[in-house]
Amino acid sequence: MANLLSLYLWGEIVFSPFALRRNKEKLINPDPLLFLIMLRLLESYDFEKQMLERYIKDNAAKNGALKILEAGCGQAWGLNLEGITYHLTGVDVDRHALEIRKFKTKDLDEIIEGDLCNVNLNENHYDVIYNSYVLEHIQGAETVMKNFHKWLKPGGIAILRFPDRQSAYGFMTRLTPFWFHVFFKKIMMGDPNAGKPGFAPYRVFYDRVVSREGMREFCDRHNLKIREEWGHPYPMDWDSYPALLKIACRTVYALSLGRLAHGHNNLTYILEKT
Ligand SMILES: C[S@@+](CC[C@H](N)C(=O)[O-])C[C@H]1O[C@@H](n2cnc3c(N)ncnc32)[C@H](O)[C@@H]1O
Repeated sequence: MANLLSLYLWGEIVFSPFALRRNKEKLINPDPLLFLIMLRLLESYDFEKQMLERYIKDNAAKNGALKILEAGCGQAWGLNLEGITYHLTGVDVDRHALEIRKFKTKDLDEIIEGDLCNVNLNENHYDVIYNSYVLEHIQGAETVMKNFHKWLKPGGIAILRFPDRQSAYGFMTRLTPFWFHVFFKKIMMGDPNAGKPGFAPYRVFYDRVVSREGMREFCDRHNLKIREEWGHPYPMDWDSYPALLKIACRTVYALSLGRLAHGHNNLTYILEKT
C-alpha cells in the first residue's frame, strides 16, 4: 500500500508539469456552467489586463468620469485606461512606496497614506476599487473587504488579485519565514531592491478570505456578485520562477493528495456591489 502511494506521488511530481503544458489549451474553460465548480484559467497576463481594462471602460461608458481607488497602490499602476476620464486615488500604508509613486511614477490624482483596515474614506463613493496583491499582506483582510463594500457605489466593481492560500504556492509562502522571502526574491529571483524600504516582499498573513472558498463565502454573505473568477495557471508564471520552486510546489501538491492546488497559484476576481 505504502509503495503504491509513493508511486502515485512520484508520478504526480514528475508528470504533472508535462500534462499541464500539453493541456494548456483545454485548461481554459469558457463554459459558464462549469464555472460553478471549475476554476477558469487565464491564457496570459495580456488577456487578464485587457479583461480588467474592458470592465473599467464599460463602467465609464455607463457612468461617465470614474472615481477609482487603488487600494494598496504600491509603486505602479498596471492598467492602460486611455480614452476615459477618471480620478485615481492611491492608498498605501508604506510611505516609501508612496514617495516613489508621487515623485517618480506621478500618476495618482490623490495620495492617502493609511491602513486599509481603518482609513477614513467616503461611503458609496467609488466606481472601481483596484486591489492587486495586497490582501494576503493584511491581518484582518475581511475587515478590508467589508470596507471595500462600504466604499463602493451600488453597481461599482472591485477588482481583486491575490495568491490563493489554498494553492501549493500559497501554502509554502505561509509556512516560510519573512527573511526567507527576502532571501528568495533577492538571491534566487535576482532582485537587488528586495527588502529595501518601499519594495517587495511584504510580510504575509493569508487570512481565510484570501482563498477561493473564503472569497466565495464572503461574497455570499455581503451581496457581492462574482462577475469574474479566474486562476493563473502555473505555466503562465513558471518562466520567471527558479526550478527549485517548481519542484517544491509539485511536491507539496502531491503530499497534500491534491488538496493544495497545483493547477493555479493566483486568483483574479471582479466583484459587483449589487
Ligand atoms: C505586493 S505590494 C503590491 C503593490 C501594487 N498593488 C502592485 O500590484 O504592484 C503590496 C502593497 O500593499 C501595501 N499594503 C500592505 N498592507 C496594507 C494595508 N493594511 N493598508 C494599505 N496598504 C497595505 C504595501 O505597502 C504594498 O505597497
